Amino acid sequence: MTVAARQAAAHTTNVATAMKELRTQPTDLDRYLALRRLQRDNPPLFYRLLLANTEEILPFVYTPTVGEACQKYHAIGVPTYGLYLRATDRGTFLQRLQAYPLQGVRVVVVTDGERILGLGDLGAGGMGISEGKSLLYTAAAGVPPHQILPVTLDVGTNNQALLKDPAYAGLRKPRVTGQAYEEVVAEFVAALKAWQPHVLLQFEDFANHTAFHLLDTYRSQLCCFNDDVQGTACVCLAGVLSALRATGASLADQRILFHGAGEAGTGIGELIAICLERRHGMTRQQGRRACLFMDSKGLVCSARTDLQHHKRPFAHDVPPCRTLLEAIQQMKPTVLIGVSTMAGSFSSEVLRAMAALNERPIIMPLSNPTSKSECTFQAAVAATEGRVLFASGSPFPPCQHGGRSLHPAQANNAYIFPAVGHAAVLTRCREIRRVFLVAAETLAGLSSVADLEAGLLFPRFSAIKAVSTRLIAACADFMVRTGLGSLPADFDAALKGRALPTTASNLTHWEAYAAAHMFDPNTAKL
Ligand code: NAI
Repeated sequence: MTVAARQAAAHTTNVATAMKELRTQPTDLDRYLALRRLQRDNPPLFYRLLLANTEEILPFVYTPTVGEACQKYHAIGVPTYGLYLRATDRGTFLQRLQAYPLQGVRVVVVTDGERILGLGDLGAGGMGISEGKSLLYTAAAGVPPHQILPVTLDVGTNNQALLKDPAYAGLRKPRVTGQAYEEVVAEFVAALKAWQPHVLLQFEDFANHTAFHLLDTYRSQLCCFNDDVQGTACVCLAGVLSALRATGASLADQRILFHGAGEAGTGIGELIAICLERRHGMTRQQGRRACLFMDSKGLVCSARTDLQHHKRPFAHDVPPCRTLLEAIQQMKPTVLIGVSTMAGSFSSEVLRAMAALNERPIIMPLSNPTSKSECTFQAAVAATEGRVLFASGSPFPPCQHGGRSLHPAQANNAYIFPAVGHAAVLTRCREIRRVFLVAAETLAGLSSVADLEAGLLFPRFSAIKAVSTRLIAACADFMVRTGLGSLPADFDAALKGRALPTTASNLTHWEAYAAAHMFDPNTAKL
């Protein structure tokens, strides 16, 4: 046996033993802690475990377990590897970045902890989200871990329970707001650009009142995006486009009703409008008219005077409707998307109304976690006699109908942002907004017709690395062709000796390049 073969066999045994130990942990939170301790104490083994068992491990390092971990972050002693920048440290952000142990950082995931998942203000405990998303970049799309930095801007918290909790390690004061808040973020962005000029910045779990504003302010200053807005929009559009591949209908003929008009919903609406503009020659406003929104006060319409800024582009000249059922009966949607966090709001009456209007109703209850989902897969299958095309935010088990096995699709942002981000890193992309449409269209094309028939609107998550490679290739190719990014200096050198046919397309070259740049814990130095 060669030294390399012996080493590989030893790695396999260690990973198998570590997985066995992990499975014996009594709770998911214990598994989260065990993994985070392993990450601190034995990074090579941790990353081998993560990459060899991605599907099994992700629910412990990310949703759903990460929600509880963020709630109890300091009380349970999570080993933090991200960087806290506190409002009280203003004036020193650049120094703190320069003192951070990793200096080749290319991706930063930042939160201010104000709206963590559907759990509200978790203050400095939001660090768990920045760290979890950072791990997804490596697990799903092979971004090397030393290139990713999780950051929490600790600007205080309005969570009274945390303020009273003796274990809480964040700033013990109400959230900094207004001008003082703006100054914290402005100093952070300026320091980041001075430290790593080509960095990609991901805004994560900011509240509505800051998320849209920060994106508008900073998207022209550095390469940045908000996953709750743009990543969600992308995976949801991909789900709709996949469903339309199954029905043969055109996006231009859809009426899409959203239950909920927050960050996720209006982000999806805007990307659908962009898609209609690019693919079907509509104006952006015509595209937006395909999207109708319900919020807690009823249908968003031009007669309303109480609408927040982000809802106004979708306030069309339609009659007011108070309830979801009324809106379905009036507006006759072909697609129903739930982003309201109102568990059970897609009642059997609502689902039956969609089934009466459409041969193949497209129904997407995206609210997370499972306890907030607008309906279950089983309820959607039962109310539509198995005709539903379904994708949810949280996972549901498959079910049987009429002798057939039907599978729910999960609209998981992890299909999108790690790959889009890796493409941005490889090409030093300067502006990322337009890339999400490319990612959605590429993802929508990856399921086979047989998979679509069984309900799999997305490829199986077990194939995530292959899926990411395809997405990285499509996005990087687009970035370079449109001048948003540059061809990497080592592009030709990296492909030498790879025996690609002379007729290989650009995308094939990019796939080979992406594969060569995927992090491998067996060869990388950690
Ligand atoms: P948000 O807080 O920005 O928006 C929630 C919206 O729901 C608000 O417009 C609110 O007015 C509306 N709403 C509340 N009660 C309502 C009612 N009774 N009837 C109608 N509308 C009502 O939250 P965000 O960020 O838009 O997220 C919404 C949900 O989507 C969350 O549960 C989140 O976990 C989920 N989500 C799922 C993703 C995925 O599956 N890939 C990704 C991002 C978010």
